[in-house]
Amino acid sequence: MKKSFSDCYDLVVYQIYPRSFKDSNADGVGDLCGIISKLDYIKSLGANAIWLCPIFKSPQCDNGYDISDYRDIDPLYGTMDDFDRLLAAAHEKGIKIIMDFVANHTSSEHEWFREARSSKENPYHGYYYWADRPLNDWRSEFGGSAWEYNEATGEYYLHSFAVGQPDVNWTNPKVREEYKAIVDFWVNKGVDGFRCDVLDHISKDFKKGLRRNGPHLHEYIREVFGRDHLENIYTVGEAETTTESILATCGQDRKELKSVFQFSHLAVGRRGKYTPVPHRMDEVKKILVRWQRFTQKHDLLYILLTDNHDRPWFLSRMANDRELRYESATNIAAAVFLLKGIPFVYEGQEIGCANSHYSDLASFNDVECLGYYKENEGKIPESELLERINFGSRDNSRRPFAWDETESHGFTEAKEPWLPYATRSKEINLSSDEKSEKSISRFYRALFALRGEREALRRGSFRQLKRFKRNCFVYVRENEKEKILVVCNFEKAQKISGLPEGKLLLSNARRQSGANGEYAAFECAVYELE
Ligand code: BGC
Repeated sequence: MKKSFSDCYDLVVYQIYPRSFKDSNADGVGDLCGIISKLDYIKSLGANAIWLCPIFKSPQCDNGYDISDYRDIDPLYGTMDDFDRLLAAAHEKGIKIIMDFVANHTSSEHEWFREARSSKENPYHGYYYWADRPLNDWRSEFGGSAWEYNEATGEYYLHSFAVGQPDVNWTNPKVREEYKAIVDFWVNKGVDGFRCDVLDHISKDFKKGLRRNGPHLHEYIREVFGRDHLENIYTVGEAETTTESILATCGQDRKELKSVFQFSHLAVGRRGKYTPVPHRMDEVKKILVRWQRFTQKHDLLYILLTDNHDRPWFLSRMANDRELRYESATNIAAAVFLLKGIPFVYEGQEIGCANSHYSDLASFNDVECLGYYKENEGKIPESELLERINFGSRDNSRRPFAWDETESHGFTEAKEPWLPYATRSKEINLSSDEKSEKSISRFYRALFALRGEREALRRGSFRQLKRFKRNCFVYVRENEKEKILVVCNFEKAQKISGLPEGKLLLSNARRQSGANGEYAAFECAVYELE
């Protein structure tokens, strides 16, 4: 039977980085009760699902992506009772909860690994990858060799990420049973979906030197997520996304995942993670259009996003986060979130958060950027290294959410938050935004309200207009009943003509004229066509 994913088009997902959203117990770290207190805010934006970054028990060497108990909540965030209350309260408000599923690695403090590393005979030994000497020259994503010596067994174990994140050996059927049981544990609690962390890493091929996309990847995904009782569970994978791999993972006959992220447009404007390069929004547009066409042709879900906890702010890299911050942030929202797919909004994006600038290393926490610093210390002049980290650190988007302009920004009652606030929090915070005539969050509310009202913006087809015109993105979303025109001008003011005219539905400027005419830099407008 052909599976229909059409209901997923009604989703608007709000991603929460729990450490940094809202602290309720004055320890400087965001928590579950804090999230409960802000559910109405999330709902007011028009979101109807929350993706929670990991809240499980963890030593926090990678802020929760190093899990030591998949069935418990880290005390930093609260208790299982708090989680149950969050789930119930969210459901009552019509908000779904999507959990992070981190299955490529555990924490080195996980009971499995503590057992595994104790002796070669231990039944858990085979849950991880071991070798008498480093099998290859793989580097950890966070710097240094990907192989770490373990004294008790005289062997090396593989860690694709931090030393405290040993890779789990999925070739072992017992491991797969464990993960199936973990998924079922959360599904039985009532969660609505999973975001699957670095999922393509779970199958490797050491002979071919493949760290990801190994020969058993699809078989493993199907084994866990293809089970009948998970039919209505939403899944989104973080995985390599070539056109072939997206088809292989999300094709309707595959019984694997409902969707995967596609990140290639987010690589524009930088080389590697830490070096800016000249760029234009047109480059992003081209990539988006290519994926719209491809996913439309194959009836695949596409994820609409520009930000998450793993990247500095898109707005700062790609547009003008100073005098045209409102125009840029709203333009990006219209250009991306009115496309066909599922919008994923990352906390803070809706108030136009921008990158910070810190001149001391102590203001950073991200294991990835600290690893980069360590690897390059002495090779690159200190001041340049700091510039690079300011540009590329994941901390940019992980700084505590600024709810208001007060000293502690309504985030915590503790003296210090776990990570210093963004350097522009006095200017960029929710309360100031809501008071401003140019309110980004108000635009977001209007945009998602419109998306909710117009079926064409959710399920309608996508067609690009003005394909060869530079510095703008113009498209139509339509179904049998509705036809909507989206016009996003980019960096430079210019005249756009030859467009069909219609009734103005939404704009980030006080647009007087119709669809044709002068557009200011980053002006955008949405029209209903006859
Ligand atoms: C997560 C990161 C994390 C890494 C290792 C990622 O893709 O999004 O935040 O550091 O996986 O788990």
